[in-house]
Amino acid sequence: MKLPALLKNNQIDSVLIVTDEGITSLGLMADFLQECENIGLTTVIYDKTVPNPTIENIEEAYALFVKNRCQGIVAFGGGSPMDCAKGVGARAARSNKSIAAMKGVLKVRKSIPPLAAIPTTAGTGSEATLAAVVTDSSTHEKYAIMDPALIPHYAVLDPLLTVGLPPHITAATGIDALTHAIEAYIGKSNTVKTLEYSRKAIKLIFENLFEAYSAGNNMEARTNMQQAAYLAGLAFTRAYVGNVHAIAHTLGGFYNVPHGLANSVTLPYVLDYYGESVYKPLAELADVIGISRQAESIEERAKMFITQVKELNEKMRIPDKLDMIKDGDIPVMAARALKEANPLYPVPKILSQKDMEHLYTSLKA
Ligand SMILES: NC(=O)c1ccc[n+]([C@@H]2O[C@H](COP(=O)([O-])OP(=O)(O)OC[C@H]3O[C@@H](n4cnc5c(N)ncnc54)[C@H](O)[C@@H]3O)[C@@H](O)[C@H]2O)c1
Ligand SMILES: [Fe+2]
Repeated sequence: MKLPALLKNNQIDSVLIVTDEGITSLGLMADFLQECENIGLTTVIYDKTVPNPTIENIEEAYALFVKNRCQGIVAFGGGSPMDCAKGVGARAARSNKSIAAMKGVLKVRKSIPPLAAIPTTAGTGSEATLAAVVTDSSTHEKYAIMDPALIPHYAVLDPLLTVGLPPHITAATGIDALTHAIEAYIGKSNTVKTLEYSRKAIKLIFENLFEAYSAGNNMEARTNMQQAAYLAGLAFTRAYVGNVHAIAHTLGGFYNVPHGLANSVTLPYVLDYYGESVYKPLAELADVIGISRQAESIEERAKMFITQVKELNEKMRIPDKLDMIKDGDIPVMAARALKEANPLYPVPKILSQKDMEHLYTSLKA
């Protein structure tokens, strides 16, 4: 891997590596650590990041960064370590500002230390995005810090790192990437480029995700999924996500549902609920994945696309309901999801509190 030398050539002698215990116990970083040692790059490891990373994770990792006078940050893992690392970067740039004070858009506005992202899941695209999604464990609130300063300076895409990803995580993280691409595509903040990134990502996902799920060591499928996740990240960092993500974030905050799983289950419900407002873009996506014939109406093609999404979930044994949702939590989650989605996300259809509550009730097992 060329990254250690690249960092060293940029006068960085000591880096904080942000990862999680799953990655360290699998020994996934062995080659990278060896290379750092070979060239005399000092490494300090923080591996306590949890899925749905918390503010405590960021503060602990930031304390290590400061104590060891690190000059750069390397995120090694899925979206959780990557977002935790971005949080450390934000704190290093703004040592007088808490994470909570940087919630929302453009609150960092200052360069962070050099940050390199090495994704080991093919899902979040965080290696390409301006977002860090963090959880306040005291309020169960999950929210994003969004600032161009958080876009990693380097991203290393090595499909070998994803070969051992278990099937259920491959499935859920892959549908997270699909959700990014679809929500960006049906939203109202696209550019020619983001539309193209989304289409490419969606095609790659339909062509490769099931293969990566069922034959994990198929390098072509792994390579294409990594590319798809990255492209979907490029799409949504400019064109945003939507109501699926707003709902998924509350499910992560309230019940610790893994992000990919929360999106996978929620995506078909929201697409169905949008109805007519998304027929045209979804019909285009049906064409992109090659399932529609010219003769069919826009509505039919859109519905065929949603059916394909449901079938992909089903083939990968993703459930179509969630059993942890409690009736009593629904009004608060619905209100939080609405607050996240509006006015920030350029959603195709603005939902009401009643719409949202209906969606949560449909999701509930
Ligand atoms: N910043 C963004 O733009 C953005 C976008 C989408 C999601 N997210 C956030 O990312 C987080 C989710 O990230 P994720 O879905 O990548 O999962 P994750 O990072 O939470 O990892 C899930 C599990 O997979 C394990 N794992 C990771 N790579 C592995 C590998 N190669 N082999 C075996 N096990 C491996 C981890 O140890 C962990 O237990 C959520 O908090 C979500 O909100 C961020
Ligand atoms: Fe996501």
